[in-house]
Amino acid sequence: MTPFAELRIQTPRLLLRPLDDGDADALFAIFSDPAVMRYWSTPPWADTAQALRLLEGEREALAGRRDLRLGLVPHGGDGRVVGTLSLYKINAACRSADIGYALARAEQGRGLMNEALAAVIDCAFDHRPGAPFDDLQLNRIEADIDPRNAASCRALERLGFQREGLLRERWIVAGEVSDSAMYGLLRADWMARR
Ligand SMILES: CC(C)(COP(=O)(O)OP(=O)(O)OC[C@H]1O[C@@H](n2cnc3c(N)ncnc32)[C@H](O)[C@@H]1OP(=O)(O)O)[C@@H](O)C(=O)NCCC(=O)NCCS
Repeated sequence: MTPFAELRIQTPRLLLRPLDDGDADALFAIFSDPAVMRYWSTPPWADTAQALRLLEGEREALAGRRDLRLGLVPHGGDGRVVGTLSLYKINAACRSADIGYALARAEQGRGLMNEALAAVIDCAFDHRPGAPFDDLQLNRIEADIDPRNAASCRALERLGFQREGLLRERWIVAGEVSDSAMYGLLRADWMARR
């Protein structure tokens, strides 16, 4: 088991690492962009204090091993976080977790999130002793996506997530009502593809 605060995952183009206070400006830039937030579960951030609140909450959640949010940092850049990827609502009894992600607009469309998701899922479903999540023995990862969010649906489907159902009028964000397409990936699905 690796403490969430110490987790580092490398992909060909990215380092995935826990967030820290120095990431507040980068997070605000991502989560205040209406294009990034079009199908998010909250309106775009309007205040940098929201970034600081998120970072404060992160520290507690990391320690409690309930939620893990990693920052995506391109190799060879200035160290700035360009996206986030979360495993959250980790349910030890059901050995399941939700997954969520966002990438700065300028970084979209190059398969970066696919790379990050594949690496985190590989890690999450690795049950071997000594693996970062070996204590959780995760069996299922799920995602709740606005069905109009074609890029996100496609990103999940490309990794083998199955669309398992539709929850109608599940969200109301800034007065706009939207459905949830529920996606699920079982460890058995993932291992069969690897
Ligand atoms: C969803 C998101 C993470 C995808 O990341 P990305 O690195 O840009 O994804 P990719 O470049 O791998 O593209 C994913 C797939 O969607 C397709 N795609 C991209 N934009 C699309 C669009 N507007 N309509 C349809 N398909 C689209 C791509 O062609 C690709 O398909 P392929 O694998 O068959 O080539 C990114 O678009 C994003 O951060 N969006 C805003 C935040 C968000 O909506 N997060 C999810 C909420 S749960």
